[in-house]
Amino acid sequence: DGELCLSRSLVNSSDKIIRKAGSSIFQRSVEGWKINSSLVLEIRKNILRFLDAERDVSVVKSSFKPGDVIHYVLDRRRTLNISQDLHSLLPEVSPMKNRRFKTCAVVGNSGILLDSECGKEIDSHDFVIRCNLAPVVEFAADVGTKSDFITMNPSVVQRAFGGFRNESDREKFVHRLSMLNDSVLWIPAFMVKGGEKHVEWVNALILKNKLKVRTAYPSLRLIHAVRGYWLTNKVPIKRPSTGLLMYTLATRFCDEIHLYGFWPFPKDLNGKAVKYHYYDDLKYRYFSNASPHRMPLEFKTLNVLHNRGALKLTTGKCV
Ligand code: CTP
Repeated sequence: DGELCLSRSLVNSSDKIIRKAGSSIFQRSVEGWKINSSLVLEIRKNILRFLDAERDVSVVKSSFKPGDVIHYVLDRRRTLNISQDLHSLLPEVSPMKNRRFKTCAVVGNSGILLDSECGKEIDSHDFVIRCNLAPVVEFAADVGTKSDFITMNPSVVQRAFGGFRNESDREKFVHRLSMLNDSVLWIPAFMVKGGEKHVEWVNALILKNKLKVRTAYPSLRLIHAVRGYWLTNKVPIKRPSTGLLMYTLATRFCDEIHLYGFWPFPKDLNGKAVKYHYYDDLKYRYFSNASPHRMPLEFKTLNVLHNRGALKLTTGKCV
């Protein structure tokens, strides 16, 4: 009935299989890859049954007023106040309203990008989505620099900008955001308690420095809807990773989606070590059950979709 049917055996197979370098279940070949436009349309239609990315990509100003209290999406017992600053940064209308692109890149943060020379190819796409304010300038040859849409988990403030303890951390952050011009900065502020201070500081810096960046804060239903879609397709993901969320949203706007920097494994197919992130020393955490994400399972799923022409997954060099 047109449902996206992922191979059950692939999805159910143990994540352990994937840890073995040299595993042959990956079809790495990008040569000869062809888009399957009818499958792309079918996936878009099916995802639309669960969410409409145009709407769910961000709440809008009229959804709240300052002082409103909302429950965190993944921690319903805890609440958050919609501050004056946050309210003033909510978009009037969806930043993705009526935006359509022929080709899009979704750039994950795996170290597989190092030495890939994919920068030019990534930048040649009509719309480039990146995750967690990953740095680009120093890695331009491998990752490119174009960023039309970039995500920022609140934890990034601590991880990459010293928790804004010093003036120099704040300056570095403001500089990074000013490079984005009027791109979309997507901040999942309503997921779990813990990052509210960071989100407030970020909002205050954006307002104080009159940054042009277009802030977006995902709707309260987005994550459940994305999970619902993948669950219905037999991909049991507890909490979708940012990269999978971005692919799912992009199906609404993009006719051809190219993924780079997705490789949640510590070794490449030749057994060579791969950094978890291309730009820092964060370690792999995703093989324990304690981790919120199931990136290896997500990867397997994306690989199935690559083989069927629904998306193009590049894990090697761009030539
Ligand atoms: N990714 C990957 N392989 C890696 C690292 C990242 O496939 N070795 C992909 C994942 O889809 C991930 C995205 O790139 O979501 C962005 O990476 P990161 O910033 O680490 O993602 P988050 O999902 O936001 O991770 P966390 O929740 O730990 O902050």
